Amino acid sequence: MTHPVLAALGLKDNESGTYLGHGEWSKTADAGVLEPINPTDGEVLARVQASSQSDYDTIVERAQAAFAVWRTTPAPRRGEAIRLCADALRKHKDALGSLVALEMGKSKPEGDGEVQEMIDIGDFAVGLSRQLYGLTMHSERPGHRMYEQWHPLGLVGVISAFNFPVAVWAWNSFIAAICGDITIWKPSPKTPLSAIASMKICNEALRAAGFPDIFFLFNDAGTELASNFVDDKRIALVSFTGSTKVGRVVGERVARRMGRSLLELGGNNAIIVDASADLKLAIPAIAFGAVGTAGQRCTTTRRLFVHESIHDDVLAKLVAAFKQVEKKIGDPTDPANLMGPLNSRDAVQAYLDAVEKAKASGGKVETGGAQIERKGNFVLPTIVTGLSNDAEVMQTETFAPILYVMKFKTLDEAIALQNDVPQGLSSSIFTANLKAAEAFLSAAGSDCGIANVNIGTSGAEIGGAFGGEKETGGGRESGSDAWRAYMRRQTNTINYSDALPLAQGIKFDL
Ligand code: UN1
Repeated sequence: MTHPVLAALGLKDNESGTYLGHGEWSKTADAGVLEPINPTDGEVLARVQASSQSDYDTIVERAQAAFAVWRTTPAPRRGEAIRLCADALRKHKDALGSLVALEMGKSKPEGDGEVQEMIDIGDFAVGLSRQLYGLTMHSERPGHRMYEQWHPLGLVGVISAFNFPVAVWAWNSFIAAICGDITIWKPSPKTPLSAIASMKICNEALRAAGFPDIFFLFNDAGTELASNFVDDKRIALVSFTGSTKVGRVVGERVARRMGRSLLELGGNNAIIVDASADLKLAIPAIAFGAVGTAGQRCTTTRRLFVHESIHDDVLAKLVAAFKQVEKKIGDPTDPANLMGPLNSRDAVQAYLDAVEKAKASGGKVETGGAQIERKGNFVLPTIVTGLSNDAEVMQTETFAPILYVMKFKTLDEAIALQNDVPQGLSSSIFTANLKAAEAFLSAAGSDCGIANVNIGTSGAEIGGAFGGEKETGGGRESGSDAWRAYMRRQTNTINYSDALPLAQGIKFDL
């Protein structure tokens, strides 16, 4: 029987995982099958037919044809298309939010929140469609005008991860769309149903209003299609979200063909709590940061540095908070629950391995540290103390709800420790001290792409540029001027005089 959450969105068993454009879903039935597992009970949710090489070729050909039309469609008109997508998502927010909760395993409020991120980036993109500004420059030559303009880039490939199965696509594809690009999406094999539902909602809204195909979708049963996608010269930009290990390969291969890549890779985010911090703010922020989405956000709080004078108090309060969360672990589609399961069996194993390694390195498990004995991939939110920042588990990102807590004496020491990991995504300080806050945000402070004061590391708003430094990959998506990654800049100089002066005063008299 089709799960009611799938039925509510018109999805059934054996869905096609390939949107070919022209309102057509592929009939391919011999390219393998994806079987997304319900992380709550370990059962297959529904089967999805994977895409074939010929499906992929059709998509790229049609995407190229669509680009030829879309790049000359006025940007504000392109914004109108995205307005329709955001409106359609508003209508389906509850149903799609439930599907994200069901398939990924995040709580229902977080599933709804993820759809809200799609709506928000849609609204942002609509406004941006009238603000793709270039600069004008004063030419050094008389009778000359210089300016720059931003042109559409081409086909954008989006490879997204299971943990934000729909929002990250919207960040990329909605901004790319108003920039005049066409997006081809390869979602995580763990969450194809959320991707299919999002494509249906958006493409139906676009087709009903007579817009061309601007979004395409394929699903890969193995890794061959995805690998060809990365190497495909016709894909101008590959936006990849996932592990540093895979992202490094994607980045290298795209660079080899002189393509562009946008990488959103692992984080290893820390919060610093100094002696002046307001713990009424800090405790819930740390708890949500570490335990929200069962620790499966790239912005999840994994390390905590607490001033030694308040360390024991903070630790006791956090243990109490984690025990509260324990009472609300369960079926993520039930809105009363704060934490769902991990997405996969492998994730449970990685969690258990990290706990064992932490213990072997001298760590003490203050709370949690075990799998919950029930069906599905449920684990306890965990706090470990007594490790040093250079322990292997502290240097690696384990996508699970494990928080490592450490003491510090001076702010300089805390900032140095927080920066002393290979990743550089998100960071926060809790302080009432202006000097500490500014030092943390200064050029000598946090080395992350995101640095916050008195809020946690996760749950960034779409209006800012999202991404991080070092092994996080350097890409920026979503708000601010991240749109520039989806366009090509052209510098134009126009001579409206009767002379031909050369730049730099060069004389070339014939
Ligand atoms: C991710 O985990 O890949 O800031 C993205 C956040 C969310 C996005 C996370 N807005 O936690």
